[in-house]
Amino acid sequence: MIGIVSDTHDNLEAVREFAPELNEFGVDVLLHAGDYIAPFTLPELARVECEEFIGVFGNNDGERDFLREKAEELGFEIVGEVFTGEVLGLKVAMVHGVHEEVVEAFAASGEYDLVVYGHTHEPDVRKVGDTLVVNPGEACGYVTGERSVAVLDPDKLEVEIIKF
Ligand code: NI
Repeated sequence: MIGIVSDTHDNLEAVREFAPELNEFGVDVLLHAGDYIAPFTLPELARVECEEFIGVFGNNDGERDFLREKAEELGFEIVGEVFTGEVLGLKVAMVHGVHEEVVEAFAASGEYDLVVYGHTHEPDVRKVGDTLVVNPGEACGYVTGERSVAVLDPDKLEVEIIKF
């Protein structure tokens, strides 16, 4: 299973709440679409018992060197602004999503099975051609008041938004 999280925005309590929820699904890989904010959020994300953590930076992630350093200590990978690669057999593109046009261009390209983004703080699950587009919503709950993450079954390409 693939866990999908975005916009944790330093909300440690939220991370402590969603981690066990994701662990119930047995998450193999955790994707984070950015806006961790401070490096101290990262060890909390290690509560998700996954084999691999792949993240991108968000527009509010100012301390990038420290975030990278902390990520490396934890065996996490924060790749930069854009991730493209294979995850559990799926071709995946992930950006924070500051520019909607970039998200839509990845989706419309037909090159990916899954396009992940965040930033809007609103959950979004839809198909563009054969490409599944997922925004898990905001883990922090600061903007909409609704905290959510997502879990994706890579075999069925089915997504569940988990509100917590
Ligand atoms: Ni953002």
